[in-house]
Amino acid sequence: MEERRVGYYEILLVMVLVTLLHISLNIVPASANFSDEVEQHRRNLLANGLGTTPPMGWNSWNHFNCQINEKIIRETADALVSTGLSKLGYNYVNIDDCWAELNRDDKGNLVAKKSTFPSGIKALADYVHSKGLKLGIYSDAGYFTCSNKMPGSLGHEFQDAKTFASWGIDYLKYDNCNNDGSKPTVRYPVMTRALMNAGRPIFFSLCEWGDMHPALWGARVGNSWRTTNDINDSWDSMISRADMNEVYADLAKPGGWNDPDMLEVGNGGMTKDEYIVHFSLWAISKAPLLLGCDIRNMSKEIVEIITNKEVIAVNQDSLGVQAKKVRMEGDQEIWAGPLSGYRVAVVLLNRGPLRNAITANWDDLGIPPKSVVQARDLWQHQTLKKVFVDKLSATVDPHSCKMYVLKPVG
Ligand code: GAL
Repeated sequence: MEERRVGYYEILLVMVLVTLLHISLNIVPASANFSDEVEQHRRNLLANGLGTTPPMGWNSWNHFNCQINEKIIRETADALVSTGLSKLGYNYVNIDDCWAELNRDDKGNLVAKKSTFPSGIKALADYVHSKGLKLGIYSDAGYFTCSNKMPGSLGHEFQDAKTFASWGIDYLKYDNCNNDGSKPTVRYPVMTRALMNAGRPIFFSLCEWGDMHPALWGARVGNSWRTTNDINDSWDSMISRADMNEVYADLAKPGGWNDPDMLEVGNGGMTKDEYIVHFSLWAISKAPLLLGCDIRNMSKEIVEIITNKEVIAVNQDSLGVQAKKVRMEGDQEIWAGPLSGYRVAVVLLNRGPLRNAITANWDDLGIPPKSVVQARDLWQHQTLKKVFVDKLSATVDPHSCKMYVLKPVG
């Protein structure tokens, strides 16, 4: 197996590259007046107390696109409760694009689309809150959203943030279409400040598709940032988003998370094993767990995947450390990251078409040599009978994974 070991020179090279990237993206001006820069960082500092663990909930886009209305949103809120999903932590009900009229009112306010949201967003927020859930909404750091069917918030940031707060909004996803050509690093912090001034804590989800490496600046602007362009409901799309997101693992932390886009589990384009890989990788990567299927109509199989408490617990672990690929050999990969209590979460991933054995060595996982380790299989819901010393091996089916929590014992 080819090992990925990080040596001193590689670390130095990465530091130099990151510095150059900062300069070229104009995040740190080359000839900086450093105190101005620090001052600006301070002013922009996001301390809204939200996102201490990755957000969980549902978003309308992956399944419904623009075909949304208040009935779907209410029924989804009902289903989150009746299926028991809300008790597991899925508490954001997020409305994506297409909820507003194309024109603002005569005072410049956003207006809910009369034909599809006749009761208005405040009534919807009240309903969702009455179920113990939170309501999320969507806008754009440009003049129109990506559908071109509703206005964006560019130039209206403070007004819109106040509107959202007055409606009782808890989460804002902020897209990047139809903007004025200025950088996201200029446009997104304006909404950050507007939200901080709005008088209500609102989770801020940056959706600039990873264009300007938001992992490098997102933590002072928002609570999560997309690291990729849009996912679709296929193996290739899903796995490539996980790969792109992994690159930024070191930059995720409580309060600010890398976001490889929303879940497609349950939309029908992947096999059960592939959806298990999807859910496992999102969980171990500390990605937002935002369901993207029609949760009013789910098969037993899909419910089993998204209600796996043990996998959810990895995602919501208090340490908040995103897993990395610690070993790769062709189609076989090991993803791992530390959990609280000196435990380690591991995914043995087989991306290929053939069944294959995969071995994780303690050395790859950061577990001291000779440690005796207990392994909990999170998809079998079983603590393996034997303990392991130095390594753990398993045979993994094509496009499948095994997921464990390892705990040193004795
Ligand atoms: C895209 C965004 C999607 C969805 C869509 C709505 O830019 O990445 O997640 O929000 O816009 O038009």
